[in-house]
Amino acid sequence: MKITDVSSRIKLNNGIEMPYLGLGVYNSKVGFEAEQAITSALECGYRLIDTASFYGNEESVGKAVRECQIPRNEIFITTKVWNDDLGYDATLRAFDLSMQKLGLDILDLYLIHWPYKNKFADAWKALEKLYAEGRIRAIGVSNFYDFHLEEIIANSNIVPAVNQIQFHPYYNRQALVDYCANKGIQIQAWSPLMQGRELMDEPVLIKIASNYNKSVAQIILRWNLQKGIATIPKSSNPERIKQNSRIFDFELSTKDIDLIDALNCGKFVGPDTLEFCK
Ligand SMILES: NC(=O)c1ccc[n+]([C@@H]2O[C@H](COP(=O)([O-])OP(=O)(O)OC[C@H]3O[C@@H](n4cnc5c(N)ncnc54)[C@H](OP(=O)(O)O)[C@@H]3O)[C@@H](O)[C@H]2O)c1
Repeated sequence: MKITDVSSRIKLNNGIEMPYLGLGVYNSKVGFEAEQAITSALECGYRLIDTASFYGNEESVGKAVRECQIPRNEIFITTKVWNDDLGYDATLRAFDLSMQKLGLDILDLYLIHWPYKNKFADAWKALEKLYAEGRIRAIGVSNFYDFHLEEIIANSNIVPAVNQIQFHPYYNRQALVDYCANKGIQIQAWSPLMQGRELMDEPVLIKIASNYNKSVAQIILRWNLQKGIATIPKSSNPERIKQNSRIFDFELSTKDIDLIDALNCGKFVGPDTLEFCK
């Protein structure tokens, strides 16, 4: 499928279509801030909202989605099971609670948030059950390395549809991206803007941005899309939400893609996954 506009979708390995671009709501405060961000995003044409039980704002996501005039089946909602709830029964309970907070009957994508203490096998069985019952349209994981994915694939008939990982020009995870592509697992980039930190001051990106008359954020998000990576930038600012959606009217040259690829230096934000999950 071609990426032509903000509503462009990619077919996941179970045939479900997921928008390339979504709004992340980590750190969007529950209530007005999160609701306004989601409303602004939907008005700009975003059709995917990424939340998690850990973010504490599932109620706001549900409220904003219910109150917009867009049919529910046009909006793709992701939430995630948190580390404390990994286990068969615990994950089923966590799912019910998330759905209650979201006020939804069917979820589009449910992810295991982290491969925490390697406790994901039973949680995955719970996701499989919910998927078989039709309560979730697609199931996947987040922050998984290839060896975690191998374990799931070896013990399940369902290959995760998505692996949501930290991915940006300083941390482009080529080996993991290639592994997932081989297995039919769609990568979705979290912190694509490196949380608005040093990447925004990167001279190579500033130069490319000025050549295309775009912002650094737009260049990064466009680079995601041209590499086939779905992306979920967060903003609570309506102007920046709009700016982040204006990435479908230009194309980066192969030379510029290569320049951005060459920025990879292994720098990441947040905890080291393997340390955090020990
Ligand atoms: N699965 C996981 O473990 C995991 C972990 C982290 C995040 N996520 C998901 O991924 C989403 C995105 O990641 P993130 O929130 O960590 O970071 P991000 O999207 O890389 O960056 C968000 C930061 O960048 C700023 N920003 C947004 N657009 C901008 C623009 N055009 N120009 C300049 N600054 C801009 C935002 O500020 P303003 O709000 O003020 O605009 C915010 O401070 C999250 O919201 C969450 O849904 C998942």
